[in-house]
Amino acid sequence: MPSLATMASSILPRSSLLPSRHLRSVRAFPSSFQSCLRFSLSRSACVASSSYSTVAADRSRVDISRESIDSLMEVVHAAAKRGAEVVMEAVDKPRNIDYKGKTDLVTDTDKRCELAILELVNSKCPDHLILGEEGGVSGDSSSPFLWCIDPLDGTTNFAHGYPSFAVSIGVLYKGRPLAASVVEFSGGPYCWITRTFTASAGGGAFCNGNKICVSNSDTIEKSLFVTGFGYEHDEPWSTNIELFKEFTDISRGVRRLGAAAVDMCHVALGIAEAYWEYRLKPWDMAAGVLMVEEAGGIVTRMDGGDFTVFDRSVLVSNGHLHDKLLKIIAPPSKLLIQKGFDFSRWYKPEGYALDF
Ligand code: IPD
Ligand code: CA
Ligand code: CA
Repeated sequence: MPSLATMASSILPRSSLLPSRHLRSVRAFPSSFQSCLRFSLSRSACVASSSYSTVAADRSRVDISRESIDSLMEVVHAAAKRGAEVVMEAVDKPRNIDYKGKTDLVTDTDKRCELAILELVNSKCPDHLILGEEGGVSGDSSSPFLWCIDPLDGTTNFAHGYPSFAVSIGVLYKGRPLAASVVEFSGGPYCWITRTFTASAGGGAFCNGNKICVSNSDTIEKSLFVTGFGYEHDEPWSTNIELFKEFTDISRGVRRLGAAAVDMCHVALGIAEAYWEYRLKPWDMAAGVLMVEEAGGIVTRMDGGDFTVFDRSVLVSNGHLHDKLLKIIAPPSKLLIQKGFDFSRWYKPEGYALDF
């Protein structure tokens, strides 16, 4: 198989790419703000001790050079930026809403954003495989690269003008997250702002170019959590309502913001300690899980098993709390499996090969 270096040099003309320092050059906050929130921790402080070996974390088997990953990152970054421009153009205008289900919305902005992203990805990486939330699978299924694109994560929030939505793009290599960018929208009507999260395998996680790190909290009582609830209101949904209740009782609180990619970036940023949800899709998770791991956190399924983006549950944490959280979250999750709820992998494009 050709290396990414070879592929990248043919598909990514150097002249059309941003200089790699561009990704790390933007400073959004004064350094005093960062240090006050412990954001300036060194990378070595970003490695959580854990007995978990998540699939995405095993970098030893990624046979790609750093330079090639950086070239790919430039395209991922440019694609997320392009998507964010489409969303920003629409954000204070009337919405055009359709329904995928009773409460599952889609707007014309979701669709236009995905098309803009696809145009860029197809022009730079024509032989990669793509899984977009709105457009489904396209491209070459024999490619080791799979782009998981959520053009608008948090569509309900976007439809209401409620802050917390994002453009989220994660690229897998043989099934493992390799490169990611999430552009988070916050603020609100007439004062929208964005911040950009980026991460690459073995290269760390960044927010507006600043290296980020999960929090140090190792006590549930002193922690803030985030979770989410899908559109299907059955037993797994009720199980998470119970978990929501229990953690609200024993922690500083559980937030429900409504955009999975943003929630995971908040764990990576160290402003929340953990996030979990049942039955997300690969496009909801591919970017966020890499962000958390590269910020020093841990990712598993909610029953404690090894995670892939095709799994139907995810628990991301700062690492220090992972065992304590699983003591509470794993038993009801295992019970759902015993009861016959389908937690097998889903949305893996036919023919796409995983190396695990
Ligand atoms: C949804 C959001 C939400 C989560 C749902 C997702 P969408 O994605 O991430 O936070 O709870 O499960 O489907 O539909 O807004 O892209
Ligand atoms: Ca989503
Ligand atoms: Ca979406």
